[in-house]
Amino acid sequence: MPTQQVIVVESPKAPFVLATREIPSPEKGEVLIKTMAVALNPANWIQREYNILVDKYPVVLGNDVAGTVEALGEGVEGLKKGDRVFGRAVKGGFGQYTAVPVAGFLVPIPENASFDEVATIPMAFTSACIGLFAAAPIGLGLNTTFSCNIPPQDGSALVIGAATSVGQFAIQLLKSLGFSRIVTYASGVHSEYLRQLGATECIDRGEVPLESLAAALRAPVKVIYHTIDLAALNTAYDCVTEGGSIVTCQPTAPFDQDGERKKLLFVRVAPNPATIEQFKKSQELMVKNVSEMLKRGIITGNRYEVLPGGVSGILGGLEKLQKGDVRGVKLVAHPHDTSA
Ligand SMILES: NC(=O)c1ccc[n+]([C@@H]2O[C@H](COP(=O)([O-])OP(=O)(O)OC[C@H]3O[C@@H](n4cnc5c(N)ncnc54)[C@H](OP(=O)(O)O)[C@@H]3O)[C@@H](O)[C@H]2O)c1
Repeated sequence: MPTQQVIVVESPKAPFVLATREIPSPEKGEVLIKTMAVALNPANWIQREYNILVDKYPVVLGNDVAGTVEALGEGVEGLKKGDRVFGRAVKGGFGQYTAVPVAGFLVPIPENASFDEVATIPMAFTSACIGLFAAAPIGLGLNTTFSCNIPPQDGSALVIGAATSVGQFAIQLLKSLGFSRIVTYASGVHSEYLRQLGATECIDRGEVPLESLAAALRAPVKVIYHTIDLAALNTAYDCVTEGGSIVTCQPTAPFDQDGERKKLLFVRVAPNPATIEQFKKSQELMVKNVSEMLKRGIITGNRYEVLPGGVSGILGGLEKLQKGDVRGVKLVAHPHDTSA
């Protein structure tokens, strides 16, 4: 059997290590992707560190891949060897090849986009898009058809932790909805970039502490997307108008405020057994529309930095992520790069 290089976790909480594994054959309904770019997410080191959402070991983690179709599993139609695709690698993306179900997140790459750009999209974009577009209780219901052609809706929003990968997509999606006021809360170094994405006002979190955020905002906003800093979710309450809405992509951030008093819609965009079916249906609609969003320039991928060293470069990238040394960019590895 032909082999490939992968990054593996051998047992619960064991370190990430470089290993050689067989290249899998795609099963029914899957395509085998030759991975040209794989992006790193905080969830990858969190899964290893806390042994969560792993069914069995050894395990290859990694979710966000872009590459070319290498082989088709039984029953797959509409794709051929060599097609450029990106998507969510449910069987582990930290390697040179991975099999992805076509019924999941698997999308042709538009001509105007590169492997690196689209590899930054699947996980973080899903959290931003479902959180804003899908109906409650998983989203704020701002575009439940996920269509690119809905009439613009005026609105005001604050993105807390706007320099995160999720935050960068939330800004672009709020702009796509027609929001005329999009305020970001992030380190000042990112302001220019966040304005390019659609921010209309940038509050520097280095200058304005959380306690002063509501005052710095001057007028409260209708919508808040909270991405990071658990304490900031409670601050969001002071920044939102009565009858407004708050979404967080943090499954466990405490929200101790009286939402009913302010008639708020508050949602967490984290699927659980009660919402998993709705999440899957929303994801289907999102996946149908994401190529069009890219083609039309409604969204672009995150800013990214390419890790040197092929598959082994993922190891250093995961370490940097865990240390909190990655700011305002997505780390992307090139698994077939053998130059280092
Ligand atoms: N990626 C996903 O698909 C996903 C999905 C669901 C949930 N999440 C969770 O959502 C959070 C963001 O994930 P991500 O992948 O988007 O993160 P990321 O891109 O790795 O975020 C990096 C950014 O986090 C910002 N940051 C760190 N501490 C902060 C704080 N106290 N206040 C404001 N900003 C802070 C930094 O901003 P500055 O440069 O401004 O300091 C840095 O630029 C993580 O907790 C992750 O576990 C992620």
